[in-house]
Amino acid sequence: MPERYGNIVGWGKYVPEKIITNADLEKILDTTDEWIFSRTGIRQRHVISEGESNSGMAVAAAREALEMADVRARDLGLIIVATSSPDYLTPPISSQVQHALGAKDVGAFTLVAGCPGFVYGLATAHQFIAAGACDNVLVVGSEVVSRFINKQDRSTAILFGDGAGAVVLQVTSEPCGVLSFVLGSDGAGAQDLILPGGGSAAPASHEMVDEGLQYLRMNGRQVFRFASRVLGRALKQAIQKANLTTDDIDLFIPHQANARIIASAARYVKLPEDKVFVNIADYGNTSAASIPIALCEAFEQGRAKIGDTLAFVAFGAGLTWASAIVKLGEKTAPLPVEKSRISLFELLPFGGISSSIGSDLKRNLAQFFSPLSTFAQKLFSRSRG
Ligand code: UT7
Repeated sequence: MPERYGNIVGWGKYVPEKIITNADLEKILDTTDEWIFSRTGIRQRHVISEGESNSGMAVAAAREALEMADVRARDLGLIIVATSSPDYLTPPISSQVQHALGAKDVGAFTLVAGCPGFVYGLATAHQFIAAGACDNVLVVGSEVVSRFINKQDRSTAILFGDGAGAVVLQVTSEPCGVLSFVLGSDGAGAQDLILPGGGSAAPASHEMVDEGLQYLRMNGRQVFRFASRVLGRALKQAIQKANLTTDDIDLFIPHQANARIIASAARYVKLPEDKVFVNIADYGNTSAASIPIALCEAFEQGRAKIGDTLAFVAFGAGLTWASAIVKLGEKTAPLPVEKSRISLFELLPFGGISSSIGSDLKRNLAQFFSPLSTFAQKLFSRSRG
């Protein structure tokens, strides 16, 4: 059986139109543009307005990625939506996205791993493709952190923005896609970045709201220290796991949380500034959406191109971290789908099961049952003739 790799063949992003600049924040908070920019690198952030939603942004980004990939939503094998700010605690936002895309019966799940959620999602998609379970996987990172921010809290209100980014990974036999990844978690730092209310530990109540537990709380200094410790290390580990050196990395696309943290991670692996992609000035920290949004911009600006080797690294609530080395391969012709076998497979007694699984999985099962299927096809055509 040939090796299976998951190549990124489509990408898309969506950011809300409404912008809040540092000057806007100066009017409502005890802060300055100078303080925000020098400490974080942020000049402005996009935030959603009434009527917009996390799922709406995720769908917009996903549609763009699917169109570029030339993959129909119903031909996806799996949908992964990485977010910590879903529309609802339940149902999962991934099912809202699946339905809105018209990805009938496609498996979907929400991945909650803080800001590194998108990189966790890439690693997961890669595994599904490499194992032969799926041929096309959609990975979305989408966040509306602005809905969970206390606008009077200058330690968080200056940092976060909203947005969504998405990619489609497609099977190919050319070595590319996720070459290596590192995933990490240290729950000892849970209190350093936490939304204490609204979950089962502190369900919605007047008291909960009176205490302001519905807002994100952050010990910025602690998170900064943690990020400075893990980011460079995770990046170095992923480069080594891919059997590469820093020189092999064409572009470093880190989680856009703080320009100073990004610079220290790049220094740690001795990456020159011109190989580091930073767009935090325009978007702020969009959590799990920051890397896919930055990836799209890197493509738009010609900073990322087919053939390049990219390095992703992120950190966030959990506390968690993740890094991945990704090679951008040429889009190859999709594996031939034996349509007659699939439709025949659906006539078999397993048809009932097949309606509840994604089309990639159906395809694999269909191939597995193909000798039986061919035999049944002959019988079927004879009985019709
Ligand atoms: O995706 C992961 C999400 N979280 C992060 O990435 C957060 C990582 N941490 C950071 O980015 C930084 O810690 C911050 C940008 C949040 C803060 O920068 P800092 O250099 O660590 O500042 P600090 O918290 O040590 O505060 C320094 C001073 C304090 O005043 P005093 O005690 O020295 O008088 C703060 O009260 O700056 C004050 N301060 C502010 N001043 C003006 C804190 N926030 C502000 C503000 N404007 N917005």
